[in-house]
Amino acid sequence: MLLKIAFPACGLLAFACLAAIPGSQLSTDTSQPSAKPQSPNAPAYTKEGRLLFPAHYREWVFLSSGIDMSYNRKALAADHAMFDNVFVNPEAYAQFVQTGTWPDKTVLVLESRMGMDKGSINHRGHFQGTELMGLEVHVKDEARFAGNWVFFDFDNEVSGSLFPKEAACYSCHAEHAAVDTTFVQFYPTLLPIAKQKHTFSANYLKEESEAK
Ligand code: HEC
Repeated sequence: MLLKIAFPACGLLAFACLAAIPGSQLSTDTSQPSAKPQSPNAPAYTKEGRLLFPAHYREWVFLSSGIDMSYNRKALAADHAMFDNVFVNPEAYAQFVQTGTWPDKTVLVLESRMGMDKGSINHRGHFQGTELMGLEVHVKDEARFAGNWVFFDFDNEVSGSLFPKEAACYSCHAEHAAVDTTFVQFYPTLLPIAKQKHTFSANYLKEESEAK
């Protein structure tokens, strides 16, 4: 009955009509390839090879904040506290929950914000400033980078530049990060999943056993 109201022609061409209803399983149209639409969160590049700014990363899954983490050059140099916040695209997060590791087209964002100490009713402790002090992205794009992860640096909200493979980013992440060159040991909801799925890197397991 409802169908008739919405699609008056259905009486005559019932089958074609059902196929036109969004979400209908009955589509018989085989002329369209069933290629999955590219997720709007997948990494995209300029023709010069710069990574486009992941404009919606603040709507992605939040993994963790670090404050004054000792590896962070900006935090070490600053005379104030520095926060960093890590986000990942939701498609990759969902896969990690299933498998304990990252799929192709994972995009991880690390943003830095200044730690503020006095403001409004706060007189102790730190909160985050509104100004974005830095943004770095870790991307897994297998076709484009021969199966590898790469890092990009942003100093604007348009596009970011690729770090060369000699940059210290790559060696520290490869040698110390818990899962697939990412620092899952610092992401509290992911660490137990990686443990359960046995996806820790050999380097990380070795460091953990030596630390005991
Ligand atoms: C000495 C070790 C070290 C070096 C060098 C390093 N990082 Fe990291 N990185 C970390 C740690 C630890 C984290 C954990 C997240 C945090 O700070 O909360 C991290 C996290 C990240 C993340 C979040 C996603 C992930 O992979 O876990 C990005 C993006 C990132 N770093 C980019 C960079 C870039 C770009 C460089 C080079 C300019 C770099 N890092 C150099 C240790 C390092």
